[in-house]
Amino acid sequence: MQIQGIDSLQPGDILGKSLFNSRGDLLLASGYELDDDTIALMRSRGIMYVHVMNELTKDIQPQELISDTVRHMASKEVGDVFKAVAAVEPVKGDNVGDIKQEIEKGNKYKNMVKMPSMRRVVSTILEEVLSNASVMFSSMRMRAEDDGADYEHAVDTTVLCIMMGRSFHYSQSELRQLGVAAMLHDIGKVILGDLRNKKPYEMNADERMLLREHPIYSSVILRENDDAAFVEQTVVMQHHEQLDGNGFPRELKASGLPPTKSNQREGEIHRFAQVLAVANIYDNLVTGVMDERVYTPEEAVTAILTGRVGSWNSHVVKALVRSVQCYPVGIQVRIKNNRAKKFIGYRGVIAKENPELQTNPAIILTHNGSDGELKPPKLMDFKDEEAMELEIVM
Ligand SMILES: [Fe+2]
Repeated sequence: MQIQGIDSLQPGDILGKSLFNSRGDLLLASGYELDDDTIALMRSRGIMYVHVMNELTKDIQPQELISDTVRHMASKEVGDVFKAVAAVEPVKGDNVGDIKQEIEKGNKYKNMVKMPSMRRVVSTILEEVLSNASVMFSSMRMRAEDDGADYEHAVDTTVLCIMMGRSFHYSQSELRQLGVAAMLHDIGKVILGDLRNKKPYEMNADERMLLREHPIYSSVILRENDDAAFVEQTVVMQHHEQLDGNGFPRELKASGLPPTKSNQREGEIHRFAQVLAVANIYDNLVTGVMDERVYTPEEAVTAILTGRVGSWNSHVVKALVRSVQCYPVGIQVRIKNNRAKKFIGYRGVIAKENPELQTNPAIILTHNGSDGELKPPKLMDFKDEEAMELEIVM
């Protein structure tokens, strides 16, 4: 099957993977023939991509790091906690000090996060991710409407953190702590009401100030739970800190050494928070939360690598590059360049990724450089091609 952007769907296209909402209810089953109404409905729900089945790409099977069952279970677990927090009477006050005081004195969120069951969910994700060691993180996920997107962000960030954490040989219990922090990092946004749905560039200065404090609220909510570990509270608190001190809320810094236990210094950003920060910004870029537009995986990686969207630990960024599929299986690409000038301008669908060198996957070429259809399509492995450059076509 093939991944197709919502704008290029045609009536008659056949859905390759079932669509669910954030509660795990089936919206459309795989095999469903799309029509104008369903396409419009999907668009109105904020769905950006779907998997489409066709003759050409019938043998392409995108692999997933975690099963739909585990994904829905995790999304529901985090969703229930977010909803419980949202149902508490909103915190009054329009400045950070008042809000913080109000949260702390009120004991409003006492044991609202069921830590044991949150840990169980993270353990299940951990087991699946570790058992799929050769699969990379695919960023072409369909995001649900409304609040569902927040829960999916929590789950995807957790999966990505676990993948990246493996690079630093974290133990299972360390990965679990990092995972729990990733699941709950934005819980403090929930108490900000409507503000949390605004994009950073739509906010005024006061709102931006308030939003910058959400990691503090997340950590306070966690602290009200008897069972939340100190390290989880710390990591949640620091998930927007940046290496050079330009992050928030505390403007902490870090050395830039690999985020391992022996390199951890007092007063520096926690090593897990350095991992979470990068996973978080990556997911925000590819889902259009950070910017006015949705970044392709490759654009997001490049923006992070070049320091355009903040200052991050380079070892963590390398772990990100090793973990995410820049050109996910099933996505359509155009060949922009290569040393031998072969197939320039040709279009095709990624058939098999190349974890060693992501620009050199196997591609089913479907169209030539003048957009003429290739009959039959041609499966080409570009693993030995030099200086390959690809461009995602949505
Ligand atoms: Fe956040």
